[in-house]
Amino acid sequence: MTRVLVLNGPNLSRLGSREPEIYGSATHEELAETCRKAGAELGLDVEVRQTDDESELVGWLHDAATSATPVVLNPAAFTHYSYSLRDACALLTAPLIEVHLSNPAAREQFRHTSVVAGVATGSITGFGQDSYRLALRAVAALV
Ligand code: DQA
Repeated sequence: MTRVLVLNGPNLSRLGSREPEIYGSATHEELAETCRKAGAELGLDVEVRQTDDESELVGWLHDAATSATPVVLNPAAFTHYSYSLRDACALLTAPLIEVHLSNPAAREQFRHTSVVAGVATGSITGFGQDSYRLALRAVAALV
């Protein structure tokens, strides 16, 4: 079974209560369960992690680079300004799918820039939890 890391950035632990009109009513644990289940159906062994800490996220990406593990990444607010995250993403050799629950391009101006998109295999945005399901399908098709 191919192992896949689903990595979620800052404030995504608050899903369920965080701006539900934008991010939906499912909690982070429910999202994680959705990802594990979708992965199992695709023959993927999915591990979901969340952190508010940029250096921890960079460390997880280093580990994924070392082990050539595919990554589904929702960098959350780091998307828009973290060059250290972008550089860590550039180290990856297996597929990297950038995901967002909302469609940042349809929101505030500062969300229109993704510093990660240019080093991702592809980006899926705007489909709520289905963004993750679609990303896992993309990984399954690529590996
Ligand atoms: C987000 C979009 C980002 O702009 C925001 O900072 C997030 C969540 C999304 O999944 O829609 O935290 O990445």
